[in-house]
Amino acid sequence: MSQAQISVWTALRGASISPNLYGHFAEHLGRCIYEGIWVGPKSRIANQRGLRLDVIAALSELHAPVIRWPGGCFADAYHWRDGIGRPEDRPKTVNLWWRQSEPNDFGTDEFMHFCRSVGAEPYICLNVGSGSPREALEWLEYCNYGGESTLTALRKKNGQSEPYGVKFWGVGNENWGCGGRYSGADYAKQYIRFATYLRAFDPSIQLIACGHGPGPAWSHDFCDAMSHADLIDHISVHRYFARGKGAEFSDSEYRSLFGDLHTMERDIQAIDHLLGYFYPDKHVGLVIDEWGVWHPEAHTENGLEQPNTLRDAVFAGACLNLFNRYARRITMANIAQTINVLQCLAHTSGAKMVLTPTYHVFEMMRPHMGAKLLMDETSCDVYETHPAGLGRKMETGFISSSVSLNGKRVFLTLANQTPDIDVETKIVLKDASIATVAGRLLHASKPSDVNSFTEPKKVYPRRIKPEAKKNEVVLVLPAHAFASISITIG
Ligand code: AHR
Repeated sequence: MSQAQISVWTALRGASISPNLYGHFAEHLGRCIYEGIWVGPKSRIANQRGLRLDVIAALSELHAPVIRWPGGCFADAYHWRDGIGRPEDRPKTVNLWWRQSEPNDFGTDEFMHFCRSVGAEPYICLNVGSGSPREALEWLEYCNYGGESTLTALRKKNGQSEPYGVKFWGVGNENWGCGGRYSGADYAKQYIRFATYLRAFDPSIQLIACGHGPGPAWSHDFCDAMSHADLIDHISVHRYFARGKGAEFSDSEYRSLFGDLHTMERDIQAIDHLLGYFYPDKHVGLVIDEWGVWHPEAHTENGLEQPNTLRDAVFAGACLNLFNRYARRITMANIAQTINVLQCLAHTSGAKMVLTPTYHVFEMMRPHMGAKLLMDETSCDVYETHPAGLGRKMETGFISSSVSLNGKRVFLTLANQTPDIDVETKIVLKDASIATVAGRLLHASKPSDVNSFTEPKKVYPRRIKPEAKKNEVVLVLPAHAFASISITIG
């Protein structure tokens, strides 16, 4: 057993944690949209205008704040007009990157209906790589224009008379790779072209530029050439993680995965510095609109499907703890991908759906959404790993945490970043006393445990009763477990 202490100051309040840090990403890839979200109105699977009712209920329960669509790499090869109008008139097209055929049954109006049913904001990623500013502008007109035009008449004909009011628009995806293989400076030229017209058409929208994949230098070159601060509201980065296989990994691979959070933190700090330097007079947010584990089992041929274990869930919790800690800069994050693909929140098989351990972490972390980040200080044991891409050893704490305040509730989430060591954790409120304490724990005997259609609740949160006195709470955080602690202050 190892010992740790987390000191918390309730008066030292930081930024509000945007609910959008708990956002999602759904791409036309494998069985994410088709089968996962959309089964069509004629399906025998329970649905509402073609959308799975079980998936709508699961995401509504999470208060899913925002959903990014239609990709991913799919976005820069997608032509939105293929996905509107009578289903029988829509073309069958080719899903270039994911080597599937695309029926176009799920398009703009279906996506908007999905977001509304779940209670989420839509976030559309535009086609820069193989599209044009005109195509992008017309999509914006179709979605957001309130006046009379041929496109708004088309939207009305398709069942939607009021504008959808889509706020978030991404100007391309991974434009250093599948989105056109631009250099940072060349993408800046494209970005300015697209953003000039989008901003002029609807000044209320928020525009999200693509940031680096391989390393922060690309983002630097983009910012250096993108001199029009008025055209940018957010910049995005993506980060995927893998150590060992999804459900077969050693203790050392468990630790290395958590060590790789240093690489994520390097990305966050690099963008934080770049944005502070290049746009000092305007707050530009960091959007991490694809993140999660991408195990070797997931490849194009199987639609990027992989096991989703307790290790992945605890890792998601540690990642979200990190995002909370940078709430002053991070404005959105979208785990990849909602259903069936990569670090999904649920798997489906025909009419059946099973929630992954990662789903439960999102549900357990809900009270952080919109709360104020609190200052905390953690002392705990550490281990050393070589984080991917950093070229040096770094220390990682046995536990990761984040703390927030909402009214009189102090809320903590804790991830045990070791596969094999229980940590007795003392939480000390430095400037407040405790009225009540409640806790929940997500744990199972092995970090490789998963939920399955036959054992859907193998990894499932249960209530715990931590010891509490005056201003201290003590709990044992078991190896490879995730916990949430809710404290009402007196
Ligand atoms: O999420 C799968 C793919 O990963 C996305 O399409 C792409 O943006 C990223 O490389």
